[in-house]
Amino acid sequence: MGVAQPAIDLRSDTVTKPGAAMREAMVSADVGDDVYGEDPTVNALQERAATLLEMEAGIFTASGTQSNLIALLCHCQRGDEYIAGQEAHTYQFEGGGAAVLGGLQPQPTMVKTTGEYDLNVLATLIKPDDPHYARTRVLCVENTHSGAVLTLEYLSEVRSFCDEHELLLHMDGARLFNASVALDVAPSAITRHVDSVSFCLSKGLGTPVGSLLCGKAAVIDRALRWRKMLGGAMRQVGILAAAGLYALDHNIDRLKEDHDNALLLAEGLRGITDLSDKIRVNTNILFIDVSNEEIESLRSHFATDGILIESQRMVTHLDVSSDDVDRVIASTQQFYGNSIRV
Ligand SMILES: Cc1ncc(COP(=O)(O)O)c(C=O)c1O
Repeated sequence: MGVAQPAIDLRSDTVTKPGAAMREAMVSADVGDDVYGEDPTVNALQERAATLLEMEAGIFTASGTQSNLIALLCHCQRGDEYIAGQEAHTYQFEGGGAAVLGGLQPQPTMVKTTGEYDLNVLATLIKPDDPHYARTRVLCVENTHSGAVLTLEYLSEVRSFCDEHELLLHMDGARLFNASVALDVAPSAITRHVDSVSFCLSKGLGTPVGSLLCGKAAVIDRALRWRKMLGGAMRQVGILAAAGLYALDHNIDRLKEDHDNALLLAEGLRGITDLSDKIRVNTNILFIDVSNEEIESLRSHFATDGILIESQRMVTHLDVSSDDVDRVIASTQQFYGNSIRV
């Protein structure tokens, strides 16, 4: 009997598991009560993140969802409005938290596949100063957006747009470091354009838990209060922050491997006749543009080969190697009957 091969999980980069060295850093973390501000490892992580992004301060949060919500609550008052992409996490996938818990009105709008807004359209969505309307306060951008990286030129334009219209600019940078690695720039070259940024430690950076919200010191002071209200103030949480410090030290530059593997996968899949023009890839996220029925059949076929997907999306990450990519390509070739393009 052959030895079963380990599963290849392409559903998301959130599925990464902490490796031995990260676990070791967690076990040996120096901790204290973070609600008293006395956890040295949390304090070190917050300072490290703020320094890295060249922002005044940072706060450790339980998740990207919590971090985005705290940012909106810090920037807005009840009855204010934030603009976000129709498919953005801050609009679609955060349980309506900003509306439910903050009394904020979302104004969703179309985003191009590049992650960019049409700024002319955006201008029409900003409400006049009139009691009939909610006050438009914040513009959210997502970087990366389904893997697509916002260019520095675009960010500079968006910054000017926000200044012109007196909007605050929040970046959902769940995958901020995928963007900085792809552009080969310091992350601060991206974050210098925004008023606040949330980034996730628990995606490609590979920690089990956590995000950081960074911004001006006054914003992060308010964030401390909102985090408490949301039940996100934790005690000896340095155990988790230690994983974050480890990730910032060891797992940023290696994101390039994930991007290279996604490209390798794209190349292999484009070599299959049926998929030649159906593959889109950006950073660590690849989409196969086929019907839901076809994906469902592929998903079932993959399952027999120990490969996991749940939609048209495939995501590479630190637990996916180039050998794994070869296995995925081989299994896909088998599914499409080896109709390989020459
Ligand atoms: C773009 C984006 N923003 C925010 C989040 C939220 O992160 P979390 O799952 O930690 O709440 C995600 C999670 O998948 C995401 O993809």
